[in-house]
Amino acid sequence: MLLSILVQVLPVLALGNGLERTPGMGWNSWNQVRCYGLNENVVKAAADAIVSRGLHAKGYEYVVVDDCWQNLQRNPDGSLQANATRFPSGIKAVADYVHSKGLKFGLYGSPGTQTCAMRYDAYPGVGLGSKGHEQQDANTFAAWGVDFVKYDWCAAEQDGLTRIPAFTAMRDAIAKTGRPMTYSISEYGHEQPWLWATPIANSWRTTNDIQANWGSIAQIIQNQASLYPYSSPGAWNDPDMLQIGNGKLTAAETRSHMAMWCFLASPLKIGTDIAKLSAETLAVLANPRIIAIDQDRLGKQARRIQNDGSGVQLWLRPITTGQAFAVFNTASTTKKVTVTVPVTSGVVDGWSGSAVALVNKSFTITVAPHDTLFYTYPQTAGSTDPEPKFVLS
Ligand code: GAL
Repeated sequence: MLLSILVQVLPVLALGNGLERTPGMGWNSWNQVRCYGLNENVVKAAADAIVSRGLHAKGYEYVVVDDCWQNLQRNPDGSLQANATRFPSGIKAVADYVHSKGLKFGLYGSPGTQTCAMRYDAYPGVGLGSKGHEQQDANTFAAWGVDFVKYDWCAAEQDGLTRIPAFTAMRDAIAKTGRPMTYSISEYGHEQPWLWATPIANSWRTTNDIQANWGSIAQIIQNQASLYPYSSPGAWNDPDMLQIGNGKLTAAETRSHMAMWCFLASPLKIGTDIAKLSAETLAVLANPRIIAIDQDRLGKQARRIQNDGSGVQLWLRPITTGQAFAVFNTASTTKKVTVTVPVTSGVVDGWSGSAVALVNKSFTITVAPHDTLFYTYPQTAGSTDPEPKFVLS
């Protein structure tokens, strides 16, 4: 409680590595291939597809190899090595390949003795977590050319660790290597990392693992509503990686997933086979106006300003050019709403980029089940204009 009050009144200094001034964008292997489908060809193909399908040009730059890249035991000198069946060329060669495409390379680690796949995916192995090897592993990552470390708690308390010292140890080990590496931690939001992780990491997971279905995505969005005070440039709430392209999400659900992650100033890690994305889904991931909201330099996460029980919610995010708002229909029926804004012109429909015609500062829209529409409007700095509002019509 006291910690929570202090965090709200004191400016908390972000991790001083200067990285992730806007949330990191890219691809991560986990939601696509989980443990057993991971190999170097999948990773290289992801790097190729990010570039060939135009996503690098939109800002997606990290290629992150999640769990299950490790050999089943450490080298005699205690260092980690790649699983030779999955990564016969070794991690450095894959990182070099990713770099040759102009992209950045990320790798998974864990603070305890076991990685999460050793616990939950029956990945065999011994001591693949970094406990007691923090500096050695950070040095290995740096030598391989890693630009991004995902450090995943799993169940490290069973190894006698506690979160703040364990996550701080790898932060400091990374800093000692002298190589800039984004530091993304994951303990699923279980011990409110938004209250303590700002000086430790560039982002922290706020949820359990996202699943490729609407129920999981909708639930995660609801749970983010109170977290807007805790995000800032270099230190982001992370509601987990994207499931766009996976499962049976409708086009509307795909739009909501993308739009709400961007309003939440979340890191954007694609977790599907990019080469196979339909043109329609690719267009959602590549929409320059929704990406601009995610990447807005103010770094202010959206606040839910209306949630009146109709199933429609309004989320507002201050951006450098004014305000952005999302009209999110959580209901499984279509909703018609009239939105009133504090301006007489300048409202832009985010998905299409078209100007919105206003009548008495209002406009009426139809929002499909589980869909999200979003808009921007200009505002002068320091303005005390009222916030947008909707009524069902
Ligand atoms: C989970 C984590 C996932 C993935 C997986 C790997 O704990 O939340 O994102 O990294 O471990 O085993």
